[in-house]
Amino acid sequence: MRLRRRIQLSTTAVLIVLLIITNTSIYFIFKNTTITSEINRLTNTLNNTVMELNKDSNSSMEQVLQAYLISDGMIRIVDRHNNPTIQATTTKDYLHIQSKYDDDQFEKVIQYKGYIFVMVSIPMINENGTIINLQVIENVDVLFDNINDLKWVLVYATIIVIIILSLTSRLLGRWISFPIQRLTETMNVIEKNGSYEKIAITHDTKDELTEMAMTFNRMIIRLEKSYSKQEQFVSDASHELKTPLTVIDSYVKLLKRWGKERPDILEEAINTIASESSRMKYLTEQLLQLAKSEEIIENEKETVNIVPIVEKTIQRLQQAFQHEIHYKNEQCEIHMNIHEPSFVQLLVILLDNAKKYSDHHIRVEVKEWKETVSILVVDKGIGIPLEAQAQVFDRLYRVDKTRSRKTGGSGLGLSIAKRIVEQHDGDITLESVEGKGSTFTVTLPKLEVK
Ligand SMILES: Nc1ncnc2c1ncn2[C@@H]1O[C@H](COP(=O)(O)OP(=O)(O)OP(=O)(O)O)[C@@H](O)[C@H]1O
Ligand SMILES: [Mg+2]
Repeated sequence: MRLRRRIQLSTTAVLIVLLIITNTSIYFIFKNTTITSEINRLTNTLNNTVMELNKDSNSSMEQVLQAYLISDGMIRIVDRHNNPTIQATTTKDYLHIQSKYDDDQFEKVIQYKGYIFVMVSIPMINENGTIINLQVIENVDVLFDNINDLKWVLVYATIIVIIILSLTSRLLGRWISFPIQRLTETMNVIEKNGSYEKIAITHDTKDELTEMAMTFNRMIIRLEKSYSKQEQFVSDASHELKTPLTVIDSYVKLLKRWGKERPDILEEAINTIASESSRMKYLTEQLLQLAKSEEIIENEKETVNIVPIVEKTIQRLQQAFQHEIHYKNEQCEIHMNIHEPSFVQLLVILLDNAKKYSDHHIRVEVKEWKETVSILVVDKGIGIPLEAQAQVFDRLYRVDKTRSRKTGGSGLGLSIAKRIVEQHDGDITLESVEGKGSTFTVTLPKLEVK
């Protein structure tokens, strides 16, 4: 069933039930209060009659009853054998209404010849000491006509309201489901064209549907971004690989032509081919590394003391670097849940950059906080211009392509570092001033060992 129809049916059904319950209650409450107030009025009349009868007056019982006779009905005295002894009536016909004796006061609604009567009876003691019933019977047909009218008014009102309701709930359903329909249409367009359409949000009502459309738009923007990043990566990667391949290809052709006669060309060609192919090897290794780091499985992580790992990595690199590495750490034990090879790789990437892009010494600092550990790699090198700082973590991005080419970079190091940090639920930040140096700070969650 469509959402629109469901909304229409459910709202109509709930409101119909509520309407019927309310109107039926109104009808019965009105009917009961009308009858009760009538009974109270008649009881009053009877009490007054009893008082008058008990008075020592000259008037006979018939006269008293006649005096208290109501506008349409009768008043009578009934003995223990259910026989009416004295009666005063407005219409002779009422005399045939069956009489009934009871020791207690009673009230009831009776029907006689299609008319409705309310009867109230109270017991009293006669002059000769016997108990009799004083009864008043009133024709309340007019009152019941009113109650009946009310019934029909309520029935018609219910029917009219139901009709209006079913029409408005139809509009309501359409109104509520309209944005969803638009969302579905946009999704269909996206599916058909493979495009990244967004849903137009016309007004800023902060309802769930607007929120849903906004979430959808955000999702589309992210998809679009990640798709274009991927596209960019593929084209960059193929371009990066194409350059060394072209160089190798042209030198091979040169070799084929002149190689045998010209030893100088032979020498140059072999050197260039060797350097280009090792660059290509490095590039493919890095690319593979990037793909592999996505496969780190959570259960490959181990809880280890990172202090000796950091120290060992620094020592190992110090031998290969000409720059001095200053290491500062006050703790001897910091336990963390890490994938050790990736963690070491992260340090190597940052230290390798610090080495490549500076001529001065490098500083490594480990700082322990309450819940995290920060590792800072500080250099006093060429720095990174402000506008490039946001991009250095992107795949294949290099600040200065010609310069980086000389230093042999592929532009993948920092993107691998970022991925590793993310896989350890951490964060990597960069502070740098062009010409003065850079500081890369890796912050990772700590593990409390008791
Ligand atoms: N410490 C640094 N000082 C100055 N520039 C830096 C530093 N670290 C990174 N960069 C800049 O950011 C760019 C991206 O760095 P990244 O490590 O990702 O690539 P790369 O060093 O060029 O190549 P590789 O993949 O071999 O690491 C570098 O090309 C360089 O321009
Ligand atoms: Mg690098």
